[in-house]
Amino acid sequence: MNLIKIIETRDGSHSLLNEALNETYHSTHGAIQESLHIFIKNGLAFFVNKNNCEGITIFEVGFGTGLNALLALKFATENKIKINYHSIETFPIDAEVICQLNYADLISFPDSKNLFQKIHSCAWGESTAINEFFTLKKQNQSIHEIKLPVETFEIIFFDAFAPAKQPDMWVFPVLEKVTQALKPSGVWVTYCAKGQLKRDLKSLGLRVETLSGPPGKREMVRALKHSQ
Ligand SMILES: C[S@@+](CC[C@H](N)C(=O)[O-])C[C@H]1O[C@@H](n2cnc3c(N)ncnc32)[C@H](O)[C@@H]1O
Repeated sequence: MNLIKIIETRDGSHSLLNEALNETYHSTHGAIQESLHIFIKNGLAFFVNKNNCEGITIFEVGFGTGLNALLALKFATENKIKINYHSIETFPIDAEVICQLNYADLISFPDSKNLFQKIHSCAWGESTAINEFFTLKKQNQSIHEIKLPVETFEIIFFDAFAPAKQPDMWVFPVLEKVTQALKPSGVWVTYCAKGQLKRDLKSLGLRVETLSGPPGKREMVRALKHSQ
């Protein structure tokens, strides 16, 4: 039984519905709009403006459709910043579904269609140069099992299914593991703005900011590590 269905969100971009969980991979108000607002504008662009850096490592929880990866690749290419993008996923999406997604039509930059394909066709478990600015390592592994290196990533894209649908992704030991992998100057972003998440991140020593969310969502969370 196929439990994954393509849906169209309000900005015209696709998302997926996981019918077993009755949960979408992105906001139904607009998948691209949401990813741009939370992960690119308030995560990646925020970090780059603040740190004026040339190379960045990003860790993503939940590779899903590869939308965040494609938007980060576009950002890296347009801003000529080298990004190492490491993403984990327990349930890789079938190629027949991926090839129907309209992201590379809507997010246009030179060679975007080929690059989106490359993001998906590259081998799991290996680092692959998608272009001269973007290296991707996808890992078919759960956040519960993976061992993460300490203080390695500049940015965490925490893009798990919602706490109401997958509470095990938001428990303290997971947040602690991910936070330990963040560099001292690092930035942690997510679409979730639950009080318990904010309290847990604060108790892990992060400075938690509640920002306006994308259309259709009141708030989101950005958390900064150490003295920023
Ligand atoms: C909200 S979706 C991610 C959307 C994705 N970032 C994108 O751009 O399309 C959540 C993802 O987390 C994955 N996931 C579920 N359990 C996981 C686990 N234990 N470890 C890592 N990823 C998991 C799901 O399969 C799903 O692809």
